[in-house]
Amino acid sequence: MQAGIAPHGGTLINRVANAEQKQMFLDKADYLPQVTLDERAASDLVMIAIGGFSPLIGFMEKVDYDPVVTDMRLAGGLPWSVPVTLSVAEAVAAPLEEGSLVRLNDAAGRFIGVLELTEKYAYDKEHEAINVYRTAEDKHPGVKVVYEQGPINLAGPVWLLERDPHPLFPDYQIDPTASRAMFAEKGWSTVVGFQTRNPIHRAHEYIQKCALETVDGLFLHPLVGATKKDDIPADVRMRCYEIMMEHYFPQDRVILAINPSAMRYAGPREAIFHALIRKNYGCTHFIVGRDHAGVGDYYGTYDAQHIFDEFEPQELGIMPMKFEHAFYCTRTSTMATTKTSPSTPEERVHLSGTKVREMLRRGELPPPEFSRPEVAAELARAMQAPQAV
Ligand code: ADX
Repeated sequence: MQAGIAPHGGTLINRVANAEQKQMFLDKADYLPQVTLDERAASDLVMIAIGGFSPLIGFMEKVDYDPVVTDMRLAGGLPWSVPVTLSVAEAVAAPLEEGSLVRLNDAAGRFIGVLELTEKYAYDKEHEAINVYRTAEDKHPGVKVVYEQGPINLAGPVWLLERDPHPLFPDYQIDPTASRAMFAEKGWSTVVGFQTRNPIHRAHEYIQKCALETVDGLFLHPLVGATKKDDIPADVRMRCYEIMMEHYFPQDRVILAINPSAMRYAGPREAIFHALIRKNYGCTHFIVGRDHAGVGDYYGTYDAQHIFDEFEPQELGIMPMKFEHAFYCTRTSTMATTKTSPSTPEERVHLSGTKVREMLRRGELPPPEFSRPEVAAELARAMQAPQAV
């Protein structure tokens, strides 16, 4: 029996090879055909293996891929909004035989997993882009990845050879089995998950704490997989979170952990995906604020909230907590949204990520109404470092 909320599909998947399987794979390693995974596919392999993508046990076959793209559902009807595919060049796919085992390497050539290849299939990139990302433009960073990846999907169950500690954040590598155990140990029956790819600012903190007022625990779950180049690197973002944990959060009510997966920037579709991932980690609730997982002007401010209405609450099995655009209100001297503040637009302090990056590059700190001073100082320090973002 699993403690807490049921994982998506009912069973928490574990595809990390056991000792026997690992030895068998190592014995075969030199004889298996090999495929190199890019950063996204490598993190998808990890997410499948640790149960973060339950009920997926491998890269999607066409029978799942097609309805996921068109209807946001797996073959059996279970909600799933984003394709999880291993897309390779024709020349890579051609010599591989369906029914065989394939050795999966990371970009450095390290043997990290095995695919039991059940199917190879071509797919329509533009169709995927329009349905999943709501645009066919290659300027969209998620669409660009789809257009640049290979035209053949390799599908089938996978095994991760070994669950290695994260090289940068080993202490925050809390996989779904562990997070579920922690929630149970703390006696939390309701836990709200928070997805983020940006440095924490006061609007984030405000919606996190508003949510925490109504549930037992807060699971801060920054994404540390692949992001686009101009996003702030994960190590800087994690330092900002460590600062917040030290100074601004009640430590017994908040857990900070990494989400190893890659950003898709699919806005509404990704909000569903992000919620299902947090359900697998054991969260009962999930925060969806303004333009969740959005990029540029591709999505309406609250599209990522509206998409939850396309499902019955029980089929998702995790409750979205929706927040309006939050800002600092100078009239009432507090964080607020238009639901709670009588302010005029001039009385609202909010800054875009781009604006903040520009300020930091000029050596200016974002104001305390936008960012906690210790976080602003950390961002400034990181921006001035030689490998500055
Ligand atoms: S995201 O791509 O991971 O969604 P980000 O880290 O900026 O980007 O956002 C994390 C979460 O906070 C998302 O749910 C987003 O909608 C929400 N959010 C970010 N800024 C605000 C804001 N000013 N007001 C309300 N919600 C916000």
